[in-house]
Amino acid sequence: MDIKSAEFVVSNTQVAKCPDSSLPEYAFIGRSNVGKSSLINMLTGRSKLAMTSATPGKTLLINHFLINKSWHLVDLPGYGYAKRSKREQDRLSRIIRDYVLLRPQLTSLFVLIDVRHAPQRVDMQFIEWLGENGVPFALVFTKADKVSKAEVSKNVSAYLAQLAEQWEELPPHFVTSSAKAQGRDDILDYIDAVNRSLASGEV
Ligand code: GTP
Ligand code: MG
Repeated sequence: MDIKSAEFVVSNTQVAKCPDSSLPEYAFIGRSNVGKSSLINMLTGRSKLAMTSATPGKTLLINHFLINKSWHLVDLPGYGYAKRSKREQDRLSRIIRDYVLLRPQLTSLFVLIDVRHAPQRVDMQFIEWLGENGVPFALVFTKADKVSKAEVSKNVSAYLAQLAEQWEELPPHFVTSSAKAQGRDDILDYIDAVNRSLASGEV
């Protein structure tokens, strides 16, 4: 799929204030600093569309981007940043929870996982919570340029093996590097296929 246009629409803290539209939505979630905003910039080919930072905790709002005038990409705040106050963590968790559970336009949630690490408890808990609430998701492993190919496949396999202990069917997964544009076509093709099936009334 070609990205012909990518425009920032709105930022806000409340799901009720998200765009009043029936366009399908694809959102990015994961630990702070995992690379959600960078992935949006990589996918759209617009390096400054979503704000990124080397320090965790940059994205604090729900950010909508309109792509090809026909679907939305959504950048969300990260979870699991230990240096935040409990109050701030709770506030951000509520924003994430409300968006994920109360936004019918949400078509697929991409859960980002830093491919450099062994499975982390906070991510597993988040995925478990998605399962309990019947929220469909795909996995995106990020920062693949930072480790060897062997390390990438070892960590991806370990992750999927751990998920297989609890899930009968594994979610789709993608291996990406925003620095190298790795995984771009795979994710855009996946979104394109889902958009087409929605348009044809298959789902
Ligand atoms: P929050 O908004 O704070 O939750 O973080 P985020 O998940 O949006 O992360 P962000 O995209 O801001 O990226 C965090 C840092 O990781 C930045 O310094 C990025 O340049 C870097 N980064 C993100 N993706 C990649 C990648 O694929 N490869 C490399 N080498 N660095 C990356
Ligand atoms: Mg961000």
